[in-house]
Amino acid sequence: MEMGRPLVWCNGTLLLLLLSIPAVLCWGNEGHYAVCKLAEAYFSEDALLAVRKLLPDSAEGNLASVCTWPDVVKRGPAYSWSYDLHFADTPDYKCNYEYCRDCHDSSGIKGRCVTAAIYNYTKQLRSYAGDDSVSKYNLSEALMFLSHFVGDTHQPLHLGFVGDLGGNKIKLRWYGTETNLHHVWDDKIILSAMKRFYNSDLSTMIQVIQEKMTDVWSNDVATWKQCGHNITACTERYASESVSLACKFAYTNITAGGNLEDEYFLTRLPVVERRLAQGGVRLASTLNSIFAPHKRIAQA
Ligand SMILES: *[C@@H]1O[C@H](CO)[C@@H](O)[C@H](O)[C@H]1NC(C)=O
Ligand SMILES: *[C@@H]1O[C@H](CO)[C@@H](O)[C@H](O)[C@H]1NC(C)=O
Ligand SMILES: *[C@@H]1O[C@H](CO)[C@@H](O)[C@H](O)[C@H]1NC(C)=O
Ligand SMILES: *[C@@H]1O[C@H](CO)[C@@H](O)[C@H](O)[C@H]1NC(C)=O
Repeated sequence: MEMGRPLVWCNGTLLLLLLSIPAVLCWGNEGHYAVCKLAEAYFSEDALLAVRKLLPDSAEGNLASVCTWPDVVKRGPAYSWSYDLHFADTPDYKCNYEYCRDCHDSSGIKGRCVTAAIYNYTKQLRSYAGDDSVSKYNLSEALMFLSHFVGDTHQPLHLGFVGDLGGNKIKLRWYGTETNLHHVWDDKIILSAMKRFYNSDLSTMIQVIQEKMTDVWSNDVATWKQCGHNITACTERYASESVSLACKFAYTNITAGGNLEDEYFLTRLPVVERRLAQGGVRLASTLNSIFAPHKRIAQA
C-alpha cells in the first residue's frame, strides 16, 4: 500500500488566505459524465463488479450518471464541508503543483483539497470486502466522490491560480455571452464542441473520443494507464499536468473583459478532449488497483 501524505510532512506555517469568497469549481455535468463513461471501457472485471455493487440504485448500473453528485450536494448544508475538496489552487503564476504548499482549503487548513480527497476516498474504498459486510464508511459515496475528483484533477483550472480562484474571477465573454474563464473550461468548450461538431449530442462526442483512444492515442493510453499503483504520486502528477496546461493554454492569450471565439476554442478543444480521455483512463486504473483481488486478500 502506498504511503499517504500526513500533514506532519509539510513544513512551514499555516497559510492564512485572505480570500474567503467561495468559488464555483468543477468540470460541468458533461465533463464529469464523459470522464466516467470513458473510464468504463478500461475497468477490470473485479472493478466492474465492485462498482456495480457499490452504485446507489438510482444509478441503474451507470457510474457516469452519478459522477456529478458531489457537485450537487456540495451546495447544500449537509455536504458543505466537501466544497473545498474539488480543487487545489497554486500561488499566482506558479505552474507546478506542490502538495504541502498548495493543498489547503480557502481558510488555509492543510490537507483539504482535491488530491488529499482522492487519497482519502481511495483508502476508504480499499476497505471494500466484496461481500455485504458493513464498512464504517459509506462506500457508495466514496465511489462517487473518487470518480468525481479524478475528473476534477484533470480540469486544468481546478489547479489554477489562487488569486483569480482558478479563473472564476476572470470575467470575459464566450462568443459574446458573459461568463468567466473557469466556466469556459468546465463547460463552454465542451458545449460548443457538442453543438458544432457532434450534433449537440454528448454520446457522439464521447464515442469520437473513444475512437481516438483506441486509434491515434493508443500508445498514449498505454502510458496514461501506467500510473495508478501509488495513488499519492500519481494524483500529484495529474495535478501538476493540470497546472502546467492552465499556464500554457487556459491563461494564455486572454484578456479580462475580452471575448473568446474560434481562435481560442479550436486550439483548446484538443486539450480538453485529451484531458477527458486521460481522466477516464486514470479513473479506471485507480479503481482497478483498488479492487484488484490480491489487494483484498492481502488485507483480509
Ligand atoms: C474523507 O472522507 C470523510 C468521509 O466522507 C470526510 O468526512 C472527510 O472530510 C474527507 N477528507 C478529505 C480530505 O477528503
Ligand atoms: C450512502 O450514501 C448514499 C448517497 O448519499 C445514501 O443514499 C445512502 O443512504 C447511504 N448509505 C448508508 C448506509 O448510509
Ligand atoms: C508514493 O508516492 C509518495 C509521493 O511521491 C511517496 O512519498 C511514497 O514514498 C510513495 N510510496 C511508495 C510505496 O512508493
Ligand atoms: C498566443 O497568441 C500568439 C500571437 O497570436 C500566437 O503566436 C500563440 O501561438 C498563441 N498561443 C496560444 C497558446 O494560443
